[in-house]
Amino acid sequence: MRDPFYITTPIYYVNDVPHIGHAYTTVAADVATRYHRLCGDDSYFLTGTDEHGQKVERTAQENGKEPQAWVDSMIPQWQQVWDRLEISFDDFIRTTEPRHKDRVAKFVQQLYDQGDIYLGRYEGPYCVACEAFYLESELIDSLCPIHKRAVERVTEENYFFALSKYADWLLNDYYKRDPSPVQPVERLNEVIGFVSGGLQDISMSRAAVEWGIPIPWDPKHVIYVWIEALQNYITALGYPDGEQFKKFWPAVHLVGKDILRFHAVIWPAMLHAAGVEPPKLIFAHGWLLVGGEKMSKTKLTGIHPDQLLDAFGADAYRYYFLREIAFGQDGSFSWESMVARYNADLANDLGNLASRVLAMITSYFDGIVPEPAGRAEALASTAETAVATYRKGMDALDFAGGINGAWEIVRAANRYVVETAPWELNKSGDKAGLATALWSSAECLRLSAILLSPVMPDACEKLWSQLGIGRPLADQRLPNDGAWGGLDAGVRVTKGEALFPRIETK
Ligand code: ME8
Ligand code: MG
Repeated sequence: MRDPFYITTPIYYVNDVPHIGHAYTTVAADVATRYHRLCGDDSYFLTGTDEHGQKVERTAQENGKEPQAWVDSMIPQWQQVWDRLEISFDDFIRTTEPRHKDRVAKFVQQLYDQGDIYLGRYEGPYCVACEAFYLESELIDSLCPIHKRAVERVTEENYFFALSKYADWLLNDYYKRDPSPVQPVERLNEVIGFVSGGLQDISMSRAAVEWGIPIPWDPKHVIYVWIEALQNYITALGYPDGEQFKKFWPAVHLVGKDILRFHAVIWPAMLHAAGVEPPKLIFAHGWLLVGGEKMSKTKLTGIHPDQLLDAFGADAYRYYFLREIAFGQDGSFSWESMVARYNADLANDLGNLASRVLAMITSYFDGIVPEPAGRAEALASTAETAVATYRKGMDALDFAGGINGAWEIVRAANRYVVETAPWELNKSGDKAGLATALWSSAECLRLSAILLSPVMPDACEKLWSQLGIGRPLADQRLPNDGAWGGLDAGVRVTKGEALFPRIETK
């Protein structure tokens, strides 16, 4: 039995529309979820929006709107992008919803009642774009290290969360768990270094901000946006006694490395303080860079996903980002590399394989998948190894490795078609050899459609229906349906439209 799978994305600030950085995390979470569904795991995928705090409050003001009206107006623009990208989340949480606010109030009240929250005084730099307090020593040339913008000086009476109490637990218990709860290992080392350097208690309320969830025992303050936003991961499941919470918690959190500390230091400590199991895994991926710097809304370097979706479609979009950049590393997007990968991998390797094989079955066997006369041993064993490589990668959130595993089948099938040369077998009248060659090639297409369906759901559905297999693709399960030999002879294929028409560039 595999564990239930609960995966989350960050909830994004709705001060602006999404860019390809947000889509990167969300696509990755969607592919992971679809993969786990394919494995028959009980799976749950949460995403949503972070709607409180100063950044959203100010953006609303600048646009002449009340904060609630502003956030309401932004939601459709986010959901439309997720629709176009085929994001199959199970729930979408907005932090302005009562289900979130009520449960957050209870959670912080508990920490207050048990003495983990106290009144203090905060003085220091604050970056509104990060919604984060900084130490003087963390600034670079007096600027925010992430946004390279001026910070503001905050001096106010705040409530503090006694984070420092939990340093020992983090270092000597949580970070030592196996498998590591913070990945990749560079990120684990980063948080260990940070916590070992001495952990300070942190401000958990803001007196100068109005747009937020009031501190239940002192409503002159609102809860610092990060402290409540993190709780979305449990409020959405109905913490503390909801059925979903009992079934799915703890989570796998996908985040960008910009928000590693919030997720890998503050959040586990808060949960541990409240007596809740900490996250199973915090995986911090790298940044999409523009001109060598993190692409960001604040710096106005964001590229809207629509710009790429119009040209490439959702399947190729999803494929490109996960295949091109190792998950965990930074990467640069370029139009040229996207066109190159599209044409080489999708139009040539996969698209041509499908159209060739289906065309040959159509002309040599009237479109009926023939009964093979023998077993293509080498191809079958390559396919079996490829499935194992695929699963190892996908289970580890190594999407590029997983996809590359699936691609072993596509590459091997292309070589096999060249080597067996079915057109020669047809000429020489070797019906048995021809049947084996075409059945085996079609079997590779069946396996490719299954393995790649989490990455390219629409294209794989198309391929599946061209193969004429009666069972729905959505009902296929690993490991059984990933074994060599699953294609039934006798089904009728159709030579449909090209899966990935070549993109010509001038
Ligand atoms: O931080 N490259 O929201 P946010 C890769 N509301 N990923 C990127 C990226 C880039 N250039 N830019 C953004 C917040 N992302 C908080 C989160 S969670 C309880 C609260 C992705 O709108 C990446 O996942 O600034 C990053 O961590 C996230 O968007 C930040 O989104
Ligand atoms: Mg940000």
